[in-house]
Amino acid sequence: MSASRPVPRPGVLDIEAYVPGRSGAPGAAKVFKLSSNETPLGPSPQAVAAVKALAEHMELYPDGAATRLRDAIAARYGLDPARIVCGSGSDELLSLITNAFLGPGDEGLFTEHGFLVYRIAILAAGGKPVVAPEKNHTADVDALLARVSPRTKIVYLANPNNPTGTYLPFEEVKRLHAGLPPQVLLVLDAAYAEYVRRNDYAAGLELVATSDNVVMTRTFSKIYGLAGLRLGWMVGPAAVIDAINRIRGPFNVNAPAIAAGVAAIADEAHVAAAIAHNDEWLPWLTREIEALGLKVTPSVGNFLLVHFPTEAGRSAKEADAFLVSRGLVLRRVEAYGLPNALRLTIGTEEANRLVVAALEDFLGARHA
Ligand SMILES: Cc1ncc(COP(=O)(O)O)c(C=O)c1O
Repeated sequence: MSASRPVPRPGVLDIEAYVPGRSGAPGAAKVFKLSSNETPLGPSPQAVAAVKALAEHMELYPDGAATRLRDAIAARYGLDPARIVCGSGSDELLSLITNAFLGPGDEGLFTEHGFLVYRIAILAAGGKPVVAPEKNHTADVDALLARVSPRTKIVYLANPNNPTGTYLPFEEVKRLHAGLPPQVLLVLDAAYAEYVRRNDYAAGLELVATSDNVVMTRTFSKIYGLAGLRLGWMVGPAAVIDAINRIRGPFNVNAPAIAAGVAAIADEAHVAAAIAHNDEWLPWLTREIEALGLKVTPSVGNFLLVHFPTEAGRSAKEADAFLVSRGLVLRRVEAYGLPNALRLTIGTEEANRLVVAALEDFLGARHA
């Protein structure tokens, strides 16, 4: 039977569109956006200058190969620039990888509270999302391996994961890889790698370099403060990179983004400052919020998952409304299967202190 109007491919209408973190808090005098894991330090001043300089030349197409940027990334990480592709955010790269390697009837595997874009990318490609349970809000290698089937094409692992902030030690990532059939692509999404301060963590470049079925995605949106420009990159085996280059848009990364990325990667002091800020405030917020009696999932990223009681008056939903009334915009995470939690991005000192004070008032008001 023919339809009376154009019908999207199977899977498309099963997609719950991604809802980004809110930025507004109606009525609040000053708004602190703590909902999208953006850096409170802003971009490198050198990246800002590079974008301003580019503004004079917006009539020109960018370099479709983003050569300067790939060279800068390659030099920074000791990689072969030919193995790097840049994208309009790592979101675009996740979609490109999925479209290139997974089609109708294929399965894409990720974890219970894994980053939502994986599900969207799999469904958009006509595939089937398969979800592995987590343990203590952490990816579970055995559970992932148990769900690999002959139809599995891609396994996505955010390490650290958003929104939980938890991570897998590199030994566990290697164990996951060792358990996968060689035709399954392992995508290591290391959007928050720069923040991690654990000896047993590695983003996994070594695994990418020594395997034919591992890629890594990275972003300039978090520690580099360029989320608004949309810039990410991936590194992988030559055959994977070749496939991505065949299907990406010819000018998928814009000229200001390329220029800003080159400048940002050179400004190591700015990155160091962002790491130092996180090293100070991540433990501080964890301690202070736990001292209020709330459970906080131990995080190695630039954000925290805060769990609330389910009882009326103390719930995550009510806490969110209370915080928003004070201009503190956190992220609701029910779409991640976490209806009783809020995700909090590490902010400026001012924002961090205001969040703790507001949570104290929220919980205290209940006792009064
Ligand atoms: C785990 C993870 N991966 C990828 C992304 C996408 O980042 P972008 O598209 O801005 O590079 C995010 C952003 O929140 C993330 O949390």
